[in-house]
Amino acid sequence: MIERTVLLTGAAGQVARHLLPGLSGYARRLVDVVQPLPAADPPEHTDVRVGDLADRAFATEVVQGVDTVVHLAANPRAQASWDALRTPNVDLVATILDAAQRADVRRVILASSVHAMGGYVQQEQHPVDPFWPPSPCCAYGATKAFAEALGRTYSYRTGLSVVCLRFGAVQDRPFAVGSMPSWLAPADLRHLVVRAIEAADVRFGVYHGVSANTRHEWDTSNARAEIGYAPTGDSEVFFTELDPNPRRSLCPRGPVA
Ligand SMILES: NC(=O)c1ccc[n+]([C@@H]2O[C@H](COP(=O)([O-])OP(=O)(O)OC[C@H]3O[C@@H](n4cnc5c(N)ncnc54)[C@H](O)[C@@H]3O)[C@@H](O)[C@H]2O)c1
Repeated sequence: MIERTVLLTGAAGQVARHLLPGLSGYARRLVDVVQPLPAADPPEHTDVRVGDLADRAFATEVVQGVDTVVHLAANPRAQASWDALRTPNVDLVATILDAAQRADVRRVILASSVHAMGGYVQQEQHPVDPFWPPSPCCAYGATKAFAEALGRTYSYRTGLSVVCLRFGAVQDRPFAVGSMPSWLAPADLRHLVVRAIEAADVRFGVYHGVSANTRHEWDTSNARAEIGYAPTGDSEVFFTELDPNPRRSLCPRGPVA
């Protein structure tokens, strides 16, 4: 039985493509500035809305009647300049949280990133504890730390539940040896987001979204304990097939874009 309506923003994007098959148990509202589905006829229980979420009136309209917002829409480029990040990664989060609060949405799940904590890994301080203060390795990571902070404000000030998921690299397989510790297998992504939707009694939480990688740099123990995340993927199985480049997917020292 379909009990919840889940709004997925950024529904035409790469993460959404991997995530969507995992949301088949929900009524889905898919939102993007471009058409998210190739088919003229959307699947059953799927409502597609095309528009710019930076437009407050549009954001207000699409959150109506929704149980959970899974907010993916953003600029996902770690190399992006502040000018390219400000609207999609800062203003948009504020607009979505405000619209969700006004519409009495139960929970907002924010797509954060391991880049919010990448400074630790780059300085060989790992496994990274999710409760350490943010240490972004780039302006992009700093926008994600801001989103987590603003989400926390809404959870404290209102009844809105906010769950922040610091996704690692969502890919069918890691692209190089250096990205093995932060790999998030698509099946684990789907499981993690469903756990984030379903977990009871979470007012606010920040969780690392990586698979059960043998190369352990990200502590997922609070995700396991609080929302029942039980990842099964391990990037080690791809080791012999990967580009041997050991450079991590996080950002090195140097001028900030
Ligand atoms: N791809 C990854 O491995 C990864 C890793 C960590 C975090 N993330 C985060 O996950 C989220 C999704 O990333 P992605 O790789 O799918 O990015 P993507 O660029 O492939 O998709 C983002 C989507 O958001 C849409 N969008 C952007 N601004 C919009 C607006 N104003 N209104 C409506 N739609 C808008 C775009 O059209 C695009 O389809 C982002 O928040 C990103 O920071 C991704």
